[in-house]
Amino acid sequence: MYSEKVMDHFQHPRNVGEIENASGVGTVGNAKCGDIMRIYLDIDENKIIRDVKFKTFGCGAAVATSSMATELVKGKDINEALKITNKAVMEALDGLPPVKVHCSLLAEEAIHAALWDYAEKNHIQIDGLEKPKSDIHEGEEEEQEEY
Ligand code: FES
Repeated sequence: MYSEKVMDHFQHPRNVGEIENASGVGTVGNAKCGDIMRIYLDIDENKIIRDVKFKTFGCGAAVATSSMATELVKGKDINEALKITNKAVMEALDGLPPVKVHCSLLAEEAIHAALWDYAEKNHIQIDGLEKPKSDIHEGEEEEQEEY
């Protein structure tokens, strides 16, 4: 059911963890399954992604696609990183079963959300980057009213 590359990235995921004082952080939720993904980007003054880390409460396919996605964006400049789609990530993994395609969107969306965060912090615009729909900002959840 899963390619060897998917199994390898699932069992030995690359770039798991956090980056302190990251240039951009993006957290997204998958509308289909409710799983969550957070990506941290360390971007240098030439807009090159120096380092990237991820954390997820996602399934095995989400772990594998995020691992591969972080490998693909590392060392790229932010405009090249923006062009890396979930399709490219799946191709790099030799495919995913159709029911798991939505899992690969988590990494792409989280990278976009982290780039958005970086752009906002630095007051710049990144061509082609749209405001993330499902970005979850910590501490911004609606407070429950007491009756
Ligand atoms: Fe939720 Fe795969 S089932 S990310």
